[in-house]
This record gives sequence, C-alpha cells and structure tokens, in this order.
Amino acid sequence: MEGGDIGEQSSKEAKIDLIMKRKEEHIQICLDDPVQAKNAKTLFGDVKLINNSLPEIDFEDIDTSTTFLGKKFSAPFMVGAMTGGAETAKKINANIATAVEELGLGMALGSQRAALYDPVLEDTYTIARKNAPGAFIGANIGGAQISKGMKIEDIRRLVDMVKADALYVHLNPAQEIVQPEGEPKYKNVLEGIRAIVKSVDTPVVAKEVGFGLSPGVVKQLEHAGVKAVETAGMGGTSYAAVEWYRAKAMKMEDKVDLGNLLWDWGIPTAASLYMINLHSKIPVVASGGLRTGLDVAKAIAMGSSMTAMALPVLRPATKSPEDVKSFIEKIIRELKSVMFLLGAKNIDELKRVPHFFVGELAQWKEYADKNV
Ligand SMILES: Cc1cc2nc3c(=O)[nH]c(=O)nc-3n(C[C@H](O)[C@H](O)[C@H](O)COP(=O)(O)O)c2cc1C
Repeated sequence: MEGGDIGEQSSKEAKIDLIMKRKEEHIQICLDDPVQAKNAKTLFGDVKLINNSLPEIDFEDIDTSTTFLGKKFSAPFMVGAMTGGAETAKKINANIATAVEELGLGMALGSQRAALYDPVLEDTYTIARKNAPGAFIGANIGGAQISKGMKIEDIRRLVDMVKADALYVHLNPAQEIVQPEGEPKYKNVLEGIRAIVKSVDTPVVAKEVGFGLSPGVVKQLEHAGVKAVETAGMGGTSYAAVEWYRAKAMKMEDKVDLGNLLWDWGIPTAASLYMINLHSKIPVVASGGLRTGLDVAKAIAMGSSMTAMALPVLRPATKSPEDVKSFIEKIIRELKSVMFLLGAKNIDELKRVPHFFVGELAQWKEYADKNV
C-alpha cells in the first residue's frame, strides 16, 4: 500500500515535470522557430471588401465596442489561449492580463491541466485574474482530458481558480497524433462536453488549436450546449509544426514524418468561418492566422462576433505589458482605419458591409453552399 503511494507520488511528479517541460518547449519553439503554415493560407486574402470614398463619418467617431458572452469589450479582439503551468508562462500571462485589463479586452488561458496535478502551479494562471480583475478571462481544458473522464469537480476548480467568464475546451486531435507523448484518445469527448455544460454555470466555448472547426462539428457542439465556438483555423500557428520540432529533437522519426505530412493540415480559417456561419446560431470567434486589423475587419464582416490572436502576442508578452498593449493598439488602429474606409461607424455596421470571395475561398463557398 505504502509502496503504491510512493510510486503514485513519483509518477505524479514525473507527469508534472513532463507537462512543465513541454509547456516551456512549446513557448521556446514558438519564439525561436518558424511554426506557421508553410504553403497553406488563412484565405483572408480571398475576401474582398469594397472601398467607400464617401464614408460620411469622422475617424474619431468610430466605435469598435461590442459584447461577447455578456461581457463588454472595447473592440472585438482578445488574446488567444496560450499558456500557464511554467515559470515563463506566469510572466506571459501577467503581461497579457495587465494589457487587456487596461484596454478593456480579454484573454483565454492555456490548458490548466498542470494546475490540477500540482496546485503550486496555480499562480501561473491566477496571476491573470489578479492583474485583470475586470477583463474577460477564459479557463481552458483539453478534449483529451475530457475523454479520459475528468471529474466535474476538477472542471469547476479550474473555472473558480481564475473566476473565469467562460470555459474553453480545446479540441486538438491533430496535435495529439503528432505530439511525441500525445494521447490520441478522443472517445466520448462530445458526451463529456454535454455533461460539463449541464453541471457548470459558466458558458462553455469549444475551440480548435489551429486546424479549423468544421460546420458538422460545430452543429454537434451547438446541440451539446456550448455557447460559442472559436475556429482556430489553418494558416497561422501549426501545432503539427510545433510538435515536429520536438519530435526531431527526440529523434522520433515516425513523428517527424507525421509532423511534416500534417504541417499544413486543416481548414483555412476564412473557409471554416464561412461554413460555420452558414447555419450557426451561436457566436463565432475567428482565429488562426489573423495578423492585422484588416483580417479582423474581414472576419467580422463574415459574421464573427469576436476575433483572437495568439502567436503574434507571444513575443511582446515575454517583454512587458506595454509591449503587449502597443501591439494590440496597432491592430485596433488598423481595424478602425478599415472601418473608416468602409463607412462602418460601429461593429453592427461592419457586420453588414458588402464583401465577396475570389480564388480558393470561392471554391470553398461553392462546396459549402451545395453540401453544408
Ligand atoms: C505558445 C502557444 C501555446 C498554445 N497553447 C494552447 C493551449 O494551451 N490551449 C489552447 O486551447 N490553445 C493553445 N494554443 C493555440 C492558440 O490558442 C490558437 O488557437 C492557435 O495558435 C492559432 O492562432 P494563431 O495563429 O493566432 O497563433 C497555443 C498557441 C501558442 C502559440
């Protein structure tokens, strides 16, 4: 019995070390190496907006404020889920939180699995709520953990830990299959999400991690009771790429090959957005490769309620809250500039601006209009 306890204890510690090490590696790889899609694109380049030479508004009168899941945002922008559970992560979360609090925006945290294993790591997440008492904060857990039968009281703990405004569930089968120590087990995830929705008061948001949600999956999630979805489509950060670097360092040739094969796997963000928005009744967050305020404007014009960026915020977040703020302010300035050129004085008007698709996105539209 005692021996068993010791064994359990050391395997728990080994697990924590592994999770922390992996988190540090993810951050380092994302900072040092090219981790974005190689040849694939978000297809926002195929979305065409129409210049308005008589906008009949003054730039200074443009109002970007909006509401997402009952919370007011000064603009339809938040920092996407990234991190927690490691020392570097604490600083990153602290800087992002300070910036979004001052800007009236929001952020999602990275997977909180680490904090469940070791409460010592909790402050790498709780620092976000400490620095952002009023901002929207998303708690986060993975589909793979839900498949394993995570307890509802543990889920509640994650939410309470950061007084979360929403609970993000990330769906990442493509990452799990490439990750050297990945757990490609996805049975009963939908059932698990349904149970969480029923037992947790906080709204549940389902997201991808850069491979794009399909309209069929969104329909299932919507029926399960999730309150919003985040596309996290292909064209930006590729988690097949991130895990490829780790597999290479570990000399795991089969995973290296798989990472290479799936580097550009997924649904381009703009295609995912178009297909989801055809029928979705819940708010959609556009993310995955959004890099400018023009991308944000296009995503809103296509019907999104919110947008998120992850990778572009990572480097500034390793420096200071001011660096994060100045990056986000630039994006919002760009968004406002595009709204000025479209004659859209607020987000509702931006949602109604005329637009059309060319190239590959037009082909996705043709496919979706027939089949979705
Ligand atoms: C360093 C890093 C860590 C991430 N960790 C998580 C995570 O723990 N949970 C999650 O849901 N998504 C995670 N993501 C995925 C992002 O939330 C986002 O979906 C993806 O990076 C695509 O957006 P981007 O192209 O703007 O980076 C992470 C992304 C990065 C760059």
